[in-house]
Amino acid sequence: MRVGVPKEIKTDEMRVALTPAGALALTRDGHDVVVETDAGKGSGFSNDQYLKAGARVEESAQGVWQDAQMILKVKEPIEGEYGYFREDMLLFTYLHLAPERHLTEALIRSAMIAVAYETVQKPDGSLPLLIPMSEIAGRMASQVGAHFLENPYGGRGILLSGAPGVLPGRVVVVGGGVVGLNAARVALGLGAAVTIVEVNPDRLRFLDDLFQGRVQTLMSNAYNLAQVVSQADLVIGAVLIPGARAPHLVTATMVQSMRPGAVIVDVAIDQGGSIATIDQVTTHSCPTYLRFGVVHYAVANMPGAVARTSTLALTNATLPYVRSLAALGPVAALKQDPSLAKGLNVFRGKVTMQAVAQAHDLAYFPLENVLAEERR
Ligand SMILES: NC(=O)c1ccc[n+]([C@@H]2O[C@H](COP(=O)([O-])OP(=O)(O)OC[C@H]3O[C@@H](n4cnc5c(N)ncnc54)[C@H](O)[C@@H]3O)[C@@H](O)[C@H]2O)c1
Repeated sequence: MRVGVPKEIKTDEMRVALTPAGALALTRDGHDVVVETDAGKGSGFSNDQYLKAGARVEESAQGVWQDAQMILKVKEPIEGEYGYFREDMLLFTYLHLAPERHLTEALIRSAMIAVAYETVQKPDGSLPLLIPMSEIAGRMASQVGAHFLENPYGGRGILLSGAPGVLPGRVVVVGGGVVGLNAARVALGLGAAVTIVEVNPDRLRFLDDLFQGRVQTLMSNAYNLAQVVSQADLVIGAVLIPGARAPHLVTATMVQSMRPGAVIVDVAIDQGGSIATIDQVTTHSCPTYLRFGVVHYAVANMPGAVARTSTLALTNATLPYVRSLAALGPVAALKQDPSLAKGLNVFRGKVTMQAVAQAHDLAYFPLENVLAEERR
């Protein structure tokens, strides 16, 4: 199969969908790999490394798209790329189609096959191509929190580790899922006193067991949150209610009770935020604002700031699916792997993802039916 890897053109996107290691695996599998010039530059991979891995490096985006049977990307295509869509093409990338009507329509019109990273789902319900980014955002949350606690960045001048004879900083992580666990891990590594506030008793048990008493676990309710938030140097928002807007668990009154120069990092900002005073999305170039004297950080694409690590983590997760799609072709690969099939969003003009069809008032075609028809 001819596999094309265009350079990402969305603002501030430095990741790339295939590393030289991935290119080597694909070329060894017998596929042709075409990478756009400098596609890997933002993640620290040179054109030469792709050439050495057996890939071809193409000057223009058009040259990559027009030759490819499968296009690998990181972010959803933007309007300037819709003109490259073709009927005989497979697109594998983050798509997030529910808020993207124009893109959904362009994919339907093109009659191509579009598989979204974010909806690939294992039988246990986990999302293997989202987890790596949650792991990274969680780890970053404690790191950026520690940074903004320093005086020059508006913080109250707290070193999370404390010092000999000085108590460590207090970190409160709200939500103990993938982001929360990873945030707690790094905060603990920095020497902070960490409390994870979580609502699921089984998850609390798991975290308690995992951290062997080195992290405090606390049942999530308004009473407990008010107590620990008021004492926190750093609060990390990491809740998720699947399919819903994040709940405002930390109220404005709780934020007012925090000390001036304390820091809030709301990782759940991409779902609307879990802190009442987080009312704006911030960016890597302008990451914080002050409310009630508390530093608020609400960057929606945190992993974008560590593009090389994020590219490596993402492609570690995507490559097995990429190899399967390339080896078997999309229809056979989707039929063989129910987890991958859940990633199918648009198949030859039909929307196969119910939430996307609902969001845009379009006809919905269950993927099982669509794939079964292909058998005939
Ligand atoms: N900003 C970014 O760059 C970025 C990157 C990755 C993920 N995220 C976001 O981070 C959030 C967390 O993602 P995740 O992968 O950890 O999800 P997850 O499902 O693994 O974890 C969410 C946790 O929140 C808990 N929770 C739900 N309601 C709660 C409540 N009332 N009190 C306490 N805990 C509660 C759940 O039980 C679960 O353990 C999501 O909104 C995700 O989209 C943001």
